[in-house]
Amino acid sequence: MLKVSLDGIKRFVFDSDMDKILSDIEKAHKTLIERSGGGKEFLGWVDLPRSYDRDELARIKEAAARIQKDSQVLLVIGIGGSYLGARAAIEFIKSPFYNQKEKTTPEVLFVGNNLSPAYINDIMELIKDRDFSINVISKSGTTTEPAIAFRLFKNEIEKRYGVQGAARRIYATTDKARGVLKQVADAQGYESFVVPDDIGGRFSVLTAVGLLPCAVAGLDVDIMLDGAREAMDACVSASEPNPARIYAAGRNALYRKGYSVEVLACYEPNFRFMGEWWKQLYGESEGKEHKGIFPASVELTADLHSMGQYLQDGERLLIETVVTFDRPLKDIVIPAQEDDGDGLNFLAGQGLHSINAQAFKGTMLAHIDGGVPIIEVACGAPDERTLGQLIYFFEAACGISGYTLGVNPFDQPGVEAYKVNMFALLGKKGYEAKREELLKRLK
Ligand code: PA5
Repeated sequence: MLKVSLDGIKRFVFDSDMDKILSDIEKAHKTLIERSGGGKEFLGWVDLPRSYDRDELARIKEAAARIQKDSQVLLVIGIGGSYLGARAAIEFIKSPFYNQKEKTTPEVLFVGNNLSPAYINDIMELIKDRDFSINVISKSGTTTEPAIAFRLFKNEIEKRYGVQGAARRIYATTDKARGVLKQVADAQGYESFVVPDDIGGRFSVLTAVGLLPCAVAGLDVDIMLDGAREAMDACVSASEPNPARIYAAGRNALYRKGYSVEVLACYEPNFRFMGEWWKQLYGESEGKEHKGIFPASVELTADLHSMGQYLQDGERLLIETVVTFDRPLKDIVIPAQEDDGDGLNFLAGQGLHSINAQAFKGTMLAHIDGGVPIIEVACGAPDERTLGQLIYFFEAACGISGYTLGVNPFDQPGVEAYKVNMFALLGKKGYEAKREELLKRLK
């Protein structure tokens, strides 16, 4: 099981700060587990790794096998919680180069996560001569970006395979009964999967939302769920060490001392989209009532050559949380060179993983010396088990953190404001007065 180390924050928080926070963390943890706090109706993710519907899981695997057989490309249409987890998981396990690699599984392309015509046209171009299927994911079924993308690609898939042929290639992941997408899926005969009512978008990666695209890309979803179950046992338990409680305690103790930005760092580029997923999870859960740690992310060592100066020496409001792996899935050894023209023979014979690990250790000490507290999340190999552990661990710690902060971590009232303005400006029915008001301001 992954471990959280707070050794790197000891210089920045006193024992008395930690003592104070620990009793709040204990209360917040209890609130989460007993389901007695704000947003308690959205806690379906807490026991999901144990309670997940086995029939649904079997159907996901069958659908993935069908897509693998009849498609060269799977288009995944979704945004936010209906997009980031699947992309993060596939890039983390398979590689950011997954689509370019030689493989027996379909490419996975993500659309509906922006309103860019250039992006959509590029995807149209990429699927032009290739067999494809669509997994449209939207809990509400009404989110503008994926709805527009679905309209465009539904048109395309129906032109290609006919309405009935297309229906066999479209998979909808949505609300169980009420949403617009569910109605369309039923009317058109698409196979559909459920986003449970009690699981919010950003906590849904271990449902069909994440599992179907992952299974299509060849990830072992059973092992992912095994990893999540292990993390559930560790994070739900009141006995220590509970990694979710330790992490929540560390970051909240620092926040109370004025550290208001948390940078999630990893020395593996495959982790980049895990950072994007984590930012949504924490940003949307905690950024409320003018409170909350601002979540950012960096990819190291690359960003040491761009953000390194700020990390080392900028305003001292940063917490750095580093995710490390104790071994690589595959290492590569530095060869000796007779002339040693580049002066690197002192590294000859070493694996790149151990060089990367020294880069982490050196950077950690430098950043601590520069005034940046470091939290380390130490994992095993970067595989499906670790992925499942990380997902559940970060979700549990997020719930505990949010309650410790005093907000409801499971709603997102702030994401509505831009939608109202956008609909008004686009002339949607029902937004006429708002439109007048906005147009005056934009003159
Ligand atoms: O976490 C959230 O609630 C949001 O990011 C949603 O996932 C996102 O807005 C997409 O919503 P939907 O799945 O309803 O299309």
